[in-house]
Amino acid sequence: MLKEKKILLCVTGGIAVYKAAALTSKLVQTGAHVKVILSESAAKFVTPLTFQALSRNAVYTDTFDEKNPQVIAHIDLADWADLILVAPATANTIAKLANGIADNMITTTLLAATAPVWIAPAMNVHMYDHPAVKRNITLLYEDGCRFIEPGEGYLACGYVGKGRLEEPEKIVKLVQEYFAAEDRSPLQGKTIIITAGPTRERIDPVRFISNHSTGKMGYALAQEAIKQGARVQLISGPVQIPAPAGVELIKVESAEEMYQAAMERFDQADIVIGTAAVADYRPKTSFDYKIKKQAGETVLELERTKDILMELGQRKSRQLLVGFAAETNNVEEYAQRKLLNKNADMIVANNVKQQGAGFGTDTNIVTIFKRDGTKKQLPLMTKLAVAEQILEEITSLLKDLGNHENS
Ligand code: PMT
Repeated sequence: MLKEKKILLCVTGGIAVYKAAALTSKLVQTGAHVKVILSESAAKFVTPLTFQALSRNAVYTDTFDEKNPQVIAHIDLADWADLILVAPATANTIAKLANGIADNMITTTLLAATAPVWIAPAMNVHMYDHPAVKRNITLLYEDGCRFIEPGEGYLACGYVGKGRLEEPEKIVKLVQEYFAAEDRSPLQGKTIIITAGPTRERIDPVRFISNHSTGKMGYALAQEAIKQGARVQLISGPVQIPAPAGVELIKVESAEEMYQAAMERFDQADIVIGTAAVADYRPKTSFDYKIKKQAGETVLELERTKDILMELGQRKSRQLLVGFAAETNNVEEYAQRKLLNKNADMIVANNVKQQGAGFGTDTNIVTIFKRDGTKKQLPLMTKLAVAEQILEEITSLLKDLGNHENS
């Protein structure tokens, strides 16, 4: 599937360099042309000769070691690549890339690159959690880089946690999906914001108001959108499932935080899909101490939260807006009302009382309502299959919009 695809693998120094050797081998086996740049530290873990033998190409380590007098190596490599993978990416290299530093062969080449850059971090769990690393990752996301999140497990430093380089097989699969999608999907390169999961509205340090959303529907959409080559910003309330590889995960708790996160990113987005079960009300007062129980009844005063989808609907210019409707009765009537009230282009309605639909299940039963008055009723399907159908509808809306603009 990767026949003739040109992949530049930039390997930076950490124990996971041994996995980069396996990655090189697997990419070559799928038909890709692979060239490797090793940082000085990476070459201390595994020699350039290993990568040369596996890639069957010369390996680059030094900006000033010009192997071919006809070209300047770092510009030539940057122009050559269809895709650049930085794997493993250390905190140090991530920091340099985020700040445009070009002090070695990898960082200099990346500064000259126009191909998509994917970064697969690998480091100690506390390093990965450090605010500076998080800040640098955010900057690189904003510059258009895509991240392959590290996995969780035993780390070479002895800790157990998040920081392991994603497995080579998984990285190869993502690369294959990317190139397959590039050839066919109109969602390729589009920025999609997906809200997912529940929100928590704090009463006091030990209590909150929330709902049964598990994030499965939103995460399935994120997974499918990534597969189709989109850039996905997943704004998620607290859930127990891992984010699909390749998404930018923005963790939030409350409706207000979700609103802020969506608003900050909206202008750059092409599509927004609101699957989150956002609380409509929050406690009017949130206490910073535990409220003690008293004899008799108590009253919790609630106030409205902001309606994120509605506000985005008022502010939208070119963006395509897709909302969900979780209903228990009068599904069609309420869904149509949401389509208009929220100025959405599409509403995906699910009757959450139906068996196999709505909260927590791996399946869903939805009807898709569009502004042109059409509706599409889907049978019981996995949430992943529902996600595929929704993205197909979005793709057809995008095509209609394109045709409309061209006519
Ligand atoms: O997460 P799962 O366990 O997989 O469950 C999936 C789901 C049932 C949560 C999902 O399929 C679903 O129906 N999501 C929408 C839930 C909901 O809050 O629906 P609503 O009818 O109350 O809201 C309508 C739309 O407005 C939704 O797109 C919602 O994200 C949005 N909204 C609602 C309130 C609010 N304050 N801001 C919003 O943006």
